[in-house]
Amino acid sequence: MTGIEYRGGILAVDGVPLPRIADAFGTPTYVYSTEAMVSAYRGFASAFADRDNLICYALKANSNLAVISTLAAEGAGADAVSIGEIRRALAAGVEPKKIVFAGVGKTAEEMAAALEIGILQFNVESLSELKMLSEVATALGHTAEIAVRVNPDVDAKTHAKITTGKKGNKFGIDLDQAASVYALAKSLPGIKATAIGMHIGSQILDPTPFEEALRRLVTLTRELRDAGHDIQRLDCGGGLGIPYKGETPVSVESYAQLVKRATDGSGCKLIFEPGRYFVGNAGVLITKVVHVKDGSAHRFIILDSAMNDLVRPAMYDAWHTIVPVKEPAADAPIEPVEIVGPICESSDQFAKGRPMPPLQAGDLVAILSAGAYSRVMSSNYNTRPEPPEVLVKEGVFAMIKPRPAVTDLFANETLPEWLVDTGA
Ligand code: LLP
Repeated sequence: MTGIEYRGGILAVDGVPLPRIADAFGTPTYVYSTEAMVSAYRGFASAFADRDNLICYALKANSNLAVISTLAAEGAGADAVSIGEIRRALAAGVEPKKIVFAGVGKTAEEMAAALEIGILQFNVESLSELKMLSEVATALGHTAEIAVRVNPDVDAKTHAKITTGKKGNKFGIDLDQAASVYALAKSLPGIKATAIGMHIGSQILDPTPFEEALRRLVTLTRELRDAGHDIQRLDCGGGLGIPYKGETPVSVESYAQLVKRATDGSGCKLIFEPGRYFVGNAGVLITKVVHVKDGSAHRFIILDSAMNDLVRPAMYDAWHTIVPVKEPAADAPIEPVEIVGPICESSDQFAKGRPMPPLQAGDLVAILSAGAYSRVMSSNYNTRPEPPEVLVKEGVFAMIKPRPAVTDLFANETLPEWLVDTGA
């Protein structure tokens, strides 16, 4: 994994041994490698350098300002799904004309704000949204440039909870309804339909569905052009998978080849919305073993991190590789253990029957591939502060979001007057 490796027997991120970060900021703590993010971004960008394109990093994967800003400095735009994410993108230095706005539930307020900001395009997902956007734009004297997000009805062969391009998903507009939506768009005063888009799912390891879906979109684009629509951009979505467990993902080069095969001749500028691919393998969660408990059936390794910090294993049965920060001896005995957090739920479990070298209380372990959909999905469940985030670059590390104090978690909660002690 680029930027994350054992150095002198200790796991390090961009040259910084993780115990130094744990000493400075405690555990659990998220740590991100600049080198990993930048090299993933550059690999992607160079694979498409010979085509007119815009890479809009999907902020939902990891929206820390320092992460967005690292990618923006490489030229990235942003794929945002709320006005909150658009404001983050701007705060991190992304130009408005590099922002696309996705999501099935954009509100009139969000539309108005995005129009005033002057983003590149709205990826529209329903007729209702299209009509509302036209009304909002007209009232403000703007014209909204849109892509219709088409649901191409392909099976992305990924986890059911993160597949989005099959008929019956809530996302996009069915392929057979798309032409009539474009026809309506043309008649609406506040709308200019200049693009078409898709996003078929996340953590996709098999390239075939991408190609099939893109071919369907390109065919539709030709039909739309014949019907007089000026389609200039094709948004290919995100979804490129990463290895969590030694899987062989689609290489960015073969992804680029298939995209070019499917879209060359479409005459469209290509937009991409990768999230996980840029940041997933750039992050680790450092956590400490609090207790080792030998039950009659299992040995439990109880960490100071929990499902509130990293929910993917509990939510999707996701596998994250977990390694001791101190490199185990090559001949260390390996035995299966249950790796769990302290929360009062049986699903608060990072791994089941995971073969691990011996661990004891006080040992640091690192949960890998924790750069995407990890800190952003954390919560305060059990009144646990979310882990801080640290960014490393070339041997130097910086806190990019501190750990809240426990008292911060309830500082803005107030008692209604009937609960306030009046002293009576
Ligand atoms: N574009 C759209 C419209 C999306 O909905 C998504 C992700 C992306 C781009 C970025 O997809 P990526 O390149 O990161 O695969 N929480 C889940 C993943 C949810 C993905 C949601 N949409 C997880 O932890 O695996």
